[in-house]
Amino acid sequence: MSDPAPIRLIRHGRLALRLRWRLGDLQALLDHHSFWARGRQRRQLAAMLRGSQAVVSAWQGQQLVGFGRASSDGAFRAVLWDVVVAGEHQGQGLGRRLVAELLACPAVAKAERVYLMTTNSPGFYCRLGFGASHAQHLMVLHRQESSG
Ligand SMILES: CC(C)(COP(=O)(O)OP(=O)(O)OC[C@H]1O[C@@H](n2cnc3c(N)ncnc32)[C@H](O)[C@@H]1OP(=O)(O)O)[C@@H](O)C(=O)NCCC(=O)NCCS
Repeated sequence: MSDPAPIRLIRHGRLALRLRWRLGDLQALLDHHSFWARGRQRRQLAAMLRGSQAVVSAWQGQQLVGFGRASSDGAFRAVLWDVVVAGEHQGQGLGRRLVAELLACPAVAKAERVYLMTTNSPGFYCRLGFGASHAQHLMVLHRQESSG
């Protein structure tokens, strides 16, 4: 059998057109491989892409196998969101590549601090140089039950 196609990362521009055309694939990736981002509607995903300052996706051929995004003010603070690797591709370094690509995006690279929230994967982010912050509290205003 031939080797599987290599996985390519795409750093999207402001319009994230390739993903905007494939919102169903993004929806399926989040539905099947995350718990906090299940049930998001395509119009919400389009708004999410428009509102993100950095968007990275991973493709094996035509198949979307990974995703991550970040918001940033371009100077002081950036936050990583929705880093997801499809189950069958986990544990092979793709999550590390996605986060490295997000950190290298100009809007994120200029920020003096990069934050993220994680429920199950602090060990993964520790391997990538992040540290837990015990000095700060995570505060949340819940507006919709469906939001993660
Ligand atoms: C968490 C996730 C993004 C990691 O991606 P991945 O491709 O499996 O991770 P990688 O193979 O790039 O792992 C990089 C390093 O982190 C380690 N690692 C990965 N997941 C880990 C975990 N849950 N706990 C501790 N270490 C972990 C790997 O062993 C590897 O270590 P190494 O540098 O010693 O080799 C992926 O498992 C995933 O999408 N999970 C479901 C969604 C999720 O929970 N996302 C996080 C949202 S905050």
